Amino acid sequence: MAEVKREREQWGSRFGLILAVAGNAIGLGNFLRFPVQAASNGGGAFLIPYFIFFLLVGIPLMWMEWGIGRYGGKFGHGSAPGMFDELWKNKMAKYFGALALFVSTIILIYYTYIESWTLGYSFFSITKSYFGLESFNEMKSFLYGYQGREATPYFNGITIAYIFMIITFAINFWILYKGISKGIERLAKIAMPALFIFAVIIAIRVITLGTPDPGIPENSVSSGFGFIWNPDLSRLGDPKIWLAAAGQIFFTLSVGMGTIHAYASYLKPKDDVALSGLTTAATNEFAEVVLGGSIAIPIAVAFFGVATATAMAKGGAFDLGFASMPLVFEKIPYGEIFGFLWFLLLFFAGITSSVAMGQQVVAFLEDEFGMSRKRAVLSLGFVVIISVQLVVFYLKFGFLDEMDYWAGTFGLVVFALVETIIFMWIFGAEKAWAEMNEGGDFKIPRIFFYIMKYITPLALFIVMIWWLINDAIPILLLKGVPEENVIYIWGSRIFMLAIFGTFVLLIHISWKRKRMRNGN
Ligand code: ALA
Repeated sequence: MAEVKREREQWGSRFGLILAVAGNAIGLGNFLRFPVQAASNGGGAFLIPYFIFFLLVGIPLMWMEWGIGRYGGKFGHGSAPGMFDELWKNKMAKYFGALALFVSTIILIYYTYIESWTLGYSFFSITKSYFGLESFNEMKSFLYGYQGREATPYFNGITIAYIFMIITFAINFWILYKGISKGIERLAKIAMPALFIFAVIIAIRVITLGTPDPGIPENSVSSGFGFIWNPDLSRLGDPKIWLAAAGQIFFTLSVGMGTIHAYASYLKPKDDVALSGLTTAATNEFAEVVLGGSIAIPIAVAFFGVATATAMAKGGAFDLGFASMPLVFEKIPYGEIFGFLWFLLLFFAGITSSVAMGQQVVAFLEDEFGMSRKRAVLSLGFVVIISVQLVVFYLKFGFLDEMDYWAGTFGLVVFALVETIIFMWIFGAEKAWAEMNEGGDFKIPRIFFYIMKYITPLALFIVMIWWLINDAIPILLLKGVPEENVIYIWGSRIFMLAIFGTFVLLIHISWKRKRMRNGN
């Protein structure tokens, strides 16, 4: 099966490609998930395990995924099944790739729905729809009303959320339909600079807030930065902090999803991956630690004080992003504009990630089934739009959380471990090393050879086993799940199994067809 198939699309420029891959990585995770993780896991101390995982797992995976992707692209494969099939001459190899298709499809389904809330909220900000709600509880109730979780005076059912959901999916699929350079790359060239400009404007606004209420001098921006960054080193002995850091690194870099592979498959065989991989990872870290760390938490502390901000952060990324931030926007001059920019920033961050999740599946259908892009996008769109109904209507029963755990947390580490073993051990570390350095604008320091071969898989294995014992098994056994949610959680699991099973079946059918075509 090692023949080069029909002409594949290509990136228009290197700059566009880097923006697209950075856009793939920079997402809601940078601005919502990261500040919550840092604030609730030891503040500045969180950065120690965070950067250790970045060096030992994040960066190595980034290079491996760019390498695997470009390698697969040489043989006409833009998704993990075909890539694994080329790396490992074993009948089973391609089925391991189903994991990446599964992970990115499941994340795509719920992530794009969350992304649509940001579009909705940018509209609510500019139209001042939530202005006048004074307490955190009222703002939360506004959010819950919007999401259809509870009946509130603010929304009449879920219609508005539904409309924004449809608009968001339509934009996503339109971009996917337009293709690599005319769709994804063009989006990145607009959305990424805009995102950085918006983030810098908002961060400067935050930094210059000083002490919003001079009557309460302890509530200031500097105490906000102190709160998020003061290292509580005593927490480093707690394995939970390390695992939270690992989870954040996977999610934020978009590694372990198959999306980096898909983008890299449109490179030319001698295009650089070493420097590009490093640049995209570094850009993501800047957006996350510097910008993501300077907005939501410091502003919450400045306005509400450490105790309330802690409670908000404990409530999770959505409370922080969609309830505490709007409360602040109400209080500052031109708050409607800052609110609009904040939510639009989140929307741009989200959409440049969600199209990447979709692209892998589109590439699978195009490359392995010979579908036209239009048909591939329509097929994926059809499945996703049907599936998202479950997420929309069963949100309050934990349907989304279940998907987020199995695909967005556990699935990433499992796939990352599988790909590391296939690339560094089965394909072979020396060959993999040569592949990653081929055409490189710089030589990856040799120490990473050993890291990728030994430390990355070991770290992934430990994280996976730890999660399995401490989280996955209790979650599987429905520990702490309210009685009325149980049926929905099972529904979510059956749904996920169906998606996984469908990909396995599709891989089987496609390879069988190819075998028949080749007459063996
Ligand atoms: N990497 C993407 C994010 O951070 C998925 O949201």
